Amino acid sequence: MENFLSRRDLLAATAAAGISATGMGSMGVEQVRKLRKMEPKLVHVPTEADIAKALKTAPAGISEATHKAHLGLWQGYANKTNEIRKALAEMEMDPAKANQIYSQVRALKVNYAFAYGGYKNHNVYFDTIGGNGGPATGDVAGLINEAYGSHEAWAKDLKTTGIGARGWVYLAYDHDEERVFNFIGDAQDTFPSWNSTLILALDVYEHAYFLDFQTARAKYIDAYLNVIDWDAVNARLHKGLGK
Ligand SMILES: [Fe+2]
Repeated sequence: MENFLSRRDLLAATAAAGISATGMGSMGVEQVRKLRKMEPKLVHVPTEADIAKALKTAPAGISEATHKAHLGLWQGYANKTNEIRKALAEMEMDPAKANQIYSQVRALKVNYAFAYGGYKNHNVYFDTIGGNGGPATGDVAGLINEAYGSHEAWAKDLKTTGIGARGWVYLAYDHDEERVFNFIGDAQDTFPSWNSTLILALDVYEHAYFLDFQTARAKYIDAYLNVIDWDAVNARLHKGLGK
């Protein structure tokens, strides 16, 4: 039965490939089998080149050793994202086998949110540090002033939010309200809302600072505020706005 494909399989495969069932002609079983499965799109697995800019934070107190260890975790999120994408591509999507208590689709997709969320957050974290910090610049500065009154008030909110978080703080642009907001995240799969563009991500998991600051998270956030790359934050905002 290894090579057996039902008529429904054939129809689904040919429909996915944009081929009419009557036009299949002499298409072999193996060709149809290949058509059934979409090759998953894989994410880039970060390398040392991707933390080159972040390594500039060492004089501010966030060391190269911290970033190099952190890179391994970032790579882990990328690799697990790809592993889950491959597993989903191989999996038979059968509603009869899905279950909200435990099922393969649930296990893969719940953990996908954690893996891909962790990959994206770290993309933004490493992209938006290694700059000169200080007051926000460009269009982001205007949005911060509009939402928080001043850079100082925003920074105080970010620091307070960071101490109150168990994992992440996100500065995001809310397309519905056309404003920015400092969201809190306990993990990469909790709390932010839809239709927002993440433009700055602050990792407050201990692995991001313990080597340099032990448990003094507030000092780490002070150092972080001194190394934000506002040009990168503005670039993310503009991309989100389609500018
Ligand atoms: Fe992290």
